[in-house]
Amino acid sequence: MRGSTNDSNFRLVNEQGEDIIQLPVLKGTVGFEVVDVRHLFDKTGFCTFDPSFGSTASCRSAITYIDGDAGILLHRGYSIEQLVEKSSYLEVAYLLLFGELPTASELAQFTRDITYHTMVHEQLTRFYTGFPRDAHPMAVMAAVVSALSAFYPDSIDVFDPQQRLISIHRLIAKMPTIAAMAYKHSVGQPFVYPQNHLDYSANFLNMMFSVPAEPYNPNPVFAKAINALLIVQADHEQNASTSTVRTVGSSRANPFASISAGIASLWGPLHGGANEAVVEMLQQIGSKDRVPEFIKRAKDKNDSFRLMGFGHRVYKSYDPRAKVMQKICDEVLHEVGHDHDPLLELARELERIALADEYFVSKKLYPNVDFYSGIIERAIGIPSPMFTALFAIARTSGWLAQWKEMIEDPDQRIARPRQLYTGATKRDYVPLERRTAKNGTPSGSGRPMPSEPAIVGG
Ligand code: SDX
Repeated sequence: MRGSTNDSNFRLVNEQGEDIIQLPVLKGTVGFEVVDVRHLFDKTGFCTFDPSFGSTASCRSAITYIDGDAGILLHRGYSIEQLVEKSSYLEVAYLLLFGELPTASELAQFTRDITYHTMVHEQLTRFYTGFPRDAHPMAVMAAVVSALSAFYPDSIDVFDPQQRLISIHRLIAKMPTIAAMAYKHSVGQPFVYPQNHLDYSANFLNMMFSVPAEPYNPNPVFAKAINALLIVQADHEQNASTSTVRTVGSSRANPFASISAGIASLWGPLHGGANEAVVEMLQQIGSKDRVPEFIKRAKDKNDSFRLMGFGHRVYKSYDPRAKVMQKICDEVLHEVGHDHDPLLELARELERIALADEYFVSKKLYPNVDFYSGIIERAIGIPSPMFTALFAIARTSGWLAQWKEMIEDPDQRIARPRQLYTGATKRDYVPLERRTAKNGTPSGSGRPMPSEPAIVGG
């Protein structure tokens, strides 16, 4: 069997060159074309096999376009470089959600809609006292965001556009509050309420770092850096956490549950957790003279160590977000003093050596957005467990835009992949007395050894 394409069809033919099936080829506005395999199984009994979806388009989307070879990232057609330079996070959130840059009155209304939803239900604060002080902020955020559906039953009907919009406002508005409360809980300081006179980024800094005992004025360089970080991390087409939100949302679960699932996926160190892992890696390396040792380890197939903050599934040239963040990084380091933290100098040395190394160049492993975001946030004074929490705040607008697009897509059905089954074929039940331990079955199978007293009761 082999495939070939003519202008609008992908033909599967047998050894004799006879058509098995013709599959439509779908074209987007820009980028690669796709073979529509939706009816492949029904018509041929064949499935495609693509476990990490490297060759699979899961949906149509008009929100974000990435050209990984050219290092291009567009949101609704606007380049990430222009958006970071000229826009604000709430304006980008509006663009992602509604498809166009807002007019002045639309932006003012959207900002008001977000601002007046930034407080959380006072009862929600009690959730935090149940967490240990050292609970990871992402564990807290996933739990608290999911619990929001219990406090806002008036906006969980996903088939009601008005309720969808209110939930979108509530989630974008409350994520910084929820994240900052997780930080305050971890350091034993009182929660700081949102301040409506502050913009989105300054408000987050205020909720993170102000204390009742003295006045606090958010540093404008830091606020600008937070705004840039929020924009570059807002959306990134069908990454792991966005695909998770789409999958959970496809069952028509409420938006709070869907976003909570996205938070859980983003937490992984290969995804949004990478920025925290970058700092841990730099601390592990410790000094510039040990960089070659770790570069060697990263190249060793028998060593699980990877250079965190390097590489990307889609970008096979420089991550355009990393380039943008380099400039922001310099501004923040200038503000705090370049000798502020030896770890930051170590990061620069690691980047210099890795980018000159044949292994990384040949595998197109460049610094990604997570390499710089961690360095910037550390310089601002944000503790590393909060780096991914900030990523979750940013990605909430992208997750919601993708969720909204999925819910509004008339072709969308519940996500239900197939599998290639590799397990046992049909066999009969074996009574307990005739069973014997098999290779690989854990010896401690929970049944007490004769010498051990059986545990009775709970
Ligand atoms: C994000 O998808 C998105 O868009 C994600 C994201 C977003 O905005 O949503 O951009 C955010 O998650 C950025 C990525 C953050 N993760 C990290 O920085 C973790 C370190 N990077 C890697 O683990 C890796 O690069 C991934 C997970 C990012 C990509 O993995 P892939 O696409 O599955 O690539 P791969 O693991 O198949 O690697 C290809 C080769 C392998 O070598 P070979 O088997 O071909 O010999 O490159 C090697 C890998 O061993 N490699 C690395 C490496 N990353 C890949 N070697 C050393 N260090 C690394 N960081």
